[in-house]
Amino acid sequence: MYETLAVVGATGAVGRIVLEQLEARNFPYKRLKLLASQRSAGQQVRFKDETITVELLAPGAFEDVDIVIASTPDEVSAEFAPYAVKEGAIVVDESGYWRMDPKVPLIIPEVNPDAIADHQGIIASPNCSTTQMVVALAPLHQAAKVKRVVVSTYQATSGAGLAGNAELESSVRQILDGQTPGHETFQHPIGFNLIPQIGGEKFEGYTSEEMKMVYETRKIMGDDDIQVCPTAVRVPVTIGHSESILVETEKPLTVAEATELFRAAAGITVVDDLANHQYPMPRDCDGKDDVFVGRIRRDISGDGHGIAFWCVSDNLRKGAATNAVQIAELLQQSVASAG
Ligand SMILES: NC(=O)c1ccc[n+]([C@@H]2O[C@H](COP(=O)([O-])OP(=O)(O)OC[C@H]3O[C@@H](n4cnc5c(N)ncnc54)[C@H](OP(=O)(O)O)[C@@H]3O)[C@@H](O)[C@H]2O)c1
Repeated sequence: MYETLAVVGATGAVGRIVLEQLEARNFPYKRLKLLASQRSAGQQVRFKDETITVELLAPGAFEDVDIVIASTPDEVSAEFAPYAVKEGAIVVDESGYWRMDPKVPLIIPEVNPDAIADHQGIIASPNCSTTQMVVALAPLHQAAKVKRVVVSTYQATSGAGLAGNAELESSVRQILDGQTPGHETFQHPIGFNLIPQIGGEKFEGYTSEEMKMVYETRKIMGDDDIQVCPTAVRVPVTIGHSESILVETEKPLTVAEATELFRAAAGITVVDDLANHQYPMPRDCDGKDDVFVGRIRRDISGDGHGIAFWCVSDNLRKGAATNAVQIAELLQQSVASAG
């Protein structure tokens, strides 16, 4: 067993849920270190029956560490992951920095767990909007080969960390108080609004968040021919990303077949009963680990190869912390089976 675990960015939106998940899933470990920036170093955090003092992330911090679960901004992961690996740790990273590095496996345990065997010290967890979409697409891909995906996202403010949720709250309060709402984390006030921009422009008018969905989907599913046309939108919801997805497959699927494939897949819960107003919604998925799928219907505009559906998942859980802890579990299982 890998004995010493470090959670980097333990004080952030994702890091806090990583701690919850380690406890809830009874993750095996002997020692736990928590690390963050100067802002939070010295803070005391309760974990199980211990009080742990948050330490400063700095070279030397990983000399006694086996596995790191990191939820820090890209530039922080870019800097610390190489020295953590040199100091002997394996880094499971949630940031966007390492995901497309050819030497770094990008893992969703339900989809491509075997890719972990190729790791050279750093393993990446995908972008939150990619993860839930790929969990849903994977069973369809296996059965009928996904050719093309058109997706629009409705992404919660916690996708931008603790600052995102704080800005939604202050924006709503300012509007209700009759003030002009401010904004800093988002490009525009988010209260009672939608913002069709997440990230800066990356490729021909598509944003960095949208292009992550293109590139990461191909890498995880191991198929560079999959075409993805994404639109990423920030919405005034605190937790839970929603996605409207149209998928075209090489082999046509009926709605009943697609529904059965979703139902049989690990990590997916189907909620689909329009007549009784049952479909996934962010409020119902908050705090849950699965990817929820509903509104499954045939593409009435296409040639019989399309299925449309609605997909919701807690971005801080399966979109981030749960997936990273599952990757760390794969590492523990690999040592157990080797020993
Ligand atoms: N939020 C999501 O839904 C989501 C989903 C998938 C992936 N991610 C990725 O996960 C990462 C963390 O996101 P988040 O939403 O948790 O952000 P967050 O709430 O802003 O938390 C950031 C964490 O990183 C730490 N940190 C920042 N600068 C640091 C530095 N220089 N040295 C050490 N620690 C530092 C912060 O510690 P302090 O308390 O010291 O500031 C805090 O613990 C990002 O890369 C994000 O893209 C997020």
